[in-house]
Amino acid sequence: MNLSAPLIADQSQQSLLAVRVHTIRYEAETIRSVELRSLDGAQLPPFTAGAHIDLEIPGGDFRSYSLVNSQEERHRYLIAVNRDPKSRGGSAYVCDTMRPGDIVSIRPPRNNFGLYESAGHSIFFGGGIGITPIISMISRLNALGRKWTLYYAVRSRAAAAYLDLIEHYRQQGTGRVVLHVDEDNNGGVLDIAGPCRDAEPDAHFYCCGPKPMIDAFSSAVAERPDDTVHVEHFSGTVEPATGGFRVVLARSGKSFDIPEGKTIMSVLLDNGEFVARSCQEGVCGTCETRVLQGIPDHKDHVLSARERTSNKSMMICCSGAKTDELVLDL
Ligand code: FES
Repeated sequence: MNLSAPLIADQSQQSLLAVRVHTIRYEAETIRSVELRSLDGAQLPPFTAGAHIDLEIPGGDFRSYSLVNSQEERHRYLIAVNRDPKSRGGSAYVCDTMRPGDIVSIRPPRNNFGLYESAGHSIFFGGGIGITPIISMISRLNALGRKWTLYYAVRSRAAAAYLDLIEHYRQQGTGRVVLHVDEDNNGGVLDIAGPCRDAEPDAHFYCCGPKPMIDAFSSAVAERPDDTVHVEHFSGTVEPATGGFRVVLARSGKSFDIPEGKTIMSVLLDNGEFVARSCQEGVCGTCETRVLQGIPDHKDHVLSARERTSNKSMMICCSGAKTDELVLDL
């Protein structure tokens, strides 16, 4: 009988799952894929296309990685990691130290980059390692028989991961692929404005890539309805809000002044409070915290415009306060 793998809770009461590194594979010159499976062959918690997991790295921090494989699969999670020369520990650990057979802890999948499955046409712009959540999405759209187009920009062919898998999905399904290789175009960048301008009124647009790509994409879709535009960031792009207000933790009754130059998260960690975290740059959603009183100054890339306006929650790694005090559900 195939039971689901057991979950335990970490200090933040978020579920943790122990999984085994089953396979590590070369995908491109700086990119490795890692296949994770349950310890006993049980099914893993389900996910939807565009979701990510948080992987614990040595020292107890977590890093978020998008799931590449199809949401139909329950026997594995497939992630891909780009070895960053300026690694803060995550990509160096995965690419240099991790070995098949290792047992690692993850938080189960969450999705901040969901797929709108009913769109008449789904148009994707993926840059470099930003292709990873998009592969799961085109797999899903194939399963649904939906129209999609992928624009995939890479520095060079040697740096391009998953070309074979993307070609497989193109042949099997209902999509079109445009590969843009910078070095074949004298360094010229992918045209994003044109496809967005010419797209059908019911198209949905997705982008995951480096900041220049996301900036070009944001300009190209500026006139499109907000709910048809979907972005996944690699890293924070704005300065975190810091200092000059007070935070009260409703559950313990403790309060802390947040001085200039400090974030809420950094002050809580300095004072021995446990805070669930991963990216610490406002892009993964791990530190989302309920706001009971006060108005946050939102700086993250996770909450939608509607969620920001509601002020019901905030990312405490980067967001601050517009009021003198915030009462948080911590
Ligand atoms: S830790 Fe990732 S959004 Fe705060």
